[in-house]
Amino acid sequence: MMQRSVTLPDENATTALGQCINAARPRFGSVFLHGDLGAGKTTLVRGVLMAAGHEGPVRSPTYTLVEPYTLNGRSVFHLDLYRLADPEELEFIGLRELLDAGLLFVEWPEQGAGVLPEPGLSIALAGDGLSRQAAIAWDEKQWPALADMLESFS
Ligand SMILES: Nc1ncnc2c1ncn2[C@@H]1O[C@H](COP(=O)(O)OP(=O)(O)O)[C@@H](O)[C@H]1O
Ligand SMILES: [Mg+2]
Repeated sequence: MMQRSVTLPDENATTALGQCINAARPRFGSVFLHGDLGAGKTTLVRGVLMAAGHEGPVRSPTYTLVEPYTLNGRSVFHLDLYRLADPEELEFIGLRELLDAGLLFVEWPEQGAGVLPEPGLSIALAGDGLSRQAAIAWDEKQWPALADMLESFS
């Protein structure tokens, strides 16, 4: 696993990190997004989706659990497991099919422990008020372009 920590002074920086992730995005796999409510997980996913050309709102799928997107012909799924009662429920939203179809961004992955596979990329967001810290860990085999993309963050 590669690791890198970056400071995100404002919301635009969180969005810019999303752009880097989009540019390095593989077709399949999963991304775990850790952090408390308001840490910026959805903002980061919004940055990824907007960089890929998505227009329109991006909200946490808190009640529907999963929101599908098609970006440049590739499937991306945004999951928010905050309200998942039991990891086994992931079967009912067709987790296996989602993993076969595209890339998953998962908020509150702790709620799917034991059922979700290991992520190729995980980002832990912390801090509140004026800025955030992002602790980024990734598998170079699954995300070979990410290290170069993150160079633009000092
Ligand atoms: N780097 C940052 N510095 C300061 N505020 C940020 C930063 N990134 C995002 N925010 C703000 O923090 C809030 C994060 O909300 P959201 O992305 O919905 O969080 P989560 O999905 O983790 O609950 C938003 O109001 C956003 O504008
Ligand atoms: Mg959210």
